[in-house]
Amino acid sequence: MAVSLAACGSAKESGDKAESSGSAKKGDDIKVGLLLPENATARYEKFDRVLIEKKVKELTDNKGEVVYANAKQDASTQNQQVDAMVSNKVDVLIVDAVDSKAIAGSVKKAKDAGIPVVAYDRLAEGPIDAYTSFDNVTVGKTQGEALLKALGGKAKDGQIVMMNGSSTDPNAAQFKQGAHSVLDGKVKIGREYDTKEWKPENANSNMEGAISALGKDKIVGVYSANDGMAGGIITALKAAGIADIPVTGQDAELAGVQRIVTGEQYMSVYKPYPQEADVAAEMAVALAQGKSLDSIAKDKVDSPTTKAVPSVLVPVVSLTKDNINDTVIKDGIYTVNEICAGKYKAACDKIGLK
Ligand code: BGC
Repeated sequence: MAVSLAACGSAKESGDKAESSGSAKKGDDIKVGLLLPENATARYEKFDRVLIEKKVKELTDNKGEVVYANAKQDASTQNQQVDAMVSNKVDVLIVDAVDSKAIAGSVKKAKDAGIPVVAYDRLAEGPIDAYTSFDNVTVGKTQGEALLKALGGKAKDGQIVMMNGSSTDPNAAQFKQGAHSVLDGKVKIGREYDTKEWKPENANSNMEGAISALGKDKIVGVYSANDGMAGGIITALKAAGIADIPVTGQDAELAGVQRIVTGEQYMSVYKPYPQEADVAAEMAVALAQGKSLDSIAKDKVDSPTTKAVPSVLVPVVSLTKDNINDTVIKDGIYTVNEICAGKYKAACDKIGLK
């Protein structure tokens, strides 16, 4: 298998290069295909896309181009998008997969056409060349630990609801694993869901179901895998007249940070997107230019299909009302004015955010 792939890759490679540039080595005039999975979660259009485009320009003296596609949560759309970019002869792909298994065939097609693939944030299956993400088990542990801390003695008085992410996303399984590793045995888990497509509206209806099954006085907290779903969950809690229970999140979305300021949401996990995006751009440009990843990626990660993938995992931070200044504001993700705009001004004053 390895032998036939390698042979196939090199045969195609020389053909492509002769056609596209006429030179053996690529310079700065590269085309990077960037594929992101959805747009209901704010991070993709607001941070990942913008940051990767910026870094590719910076690394290529403004000559590199990013061709972008968002799959809007549809795995077959994403396969078509990859296939189109392969026909379009991009020099490298950065793929954040909707479905890590369903993408494997398209990853292989790219590889066979001599186009390297960087798996971004989610570990796509198939013959990828590199991977960058956060330590996703630690993300889940961080959420679980924060929830236990917020519950304190109340952990014994009731039950929590766990709202995990989509089962097509390998990160969701890792968040869930990390959270269970700290919650199990410490608090009763009354209901647990894998949320179809990570959609806030699905989290909202699952939460309504949990409230009617368990009873509104029995729920002491909610584990939500991300901020988008926390929004849907908090809407359901409010509608049922449940207030003041801790809800977790992830992504440090502006709306999530604002709910932390008002106290509707207890915490989020801040993942420094500029670091993840910069690494992805560095990996992509190096691969497109035929350079080694040794100075960029010191770690190796195994996927279910591919062993020892050169990887970079960026550390994460638990975000509560006490460290907004030291995280998202310090890193220039948001300004105080953005967070504290309009109706959030009074709540910001109250927690001393300025
Ligand atoms: C990402 C999260 C995101 C979720 C939903 C995960 O793979 O790591 O940051 O909230 O997908 O898109």
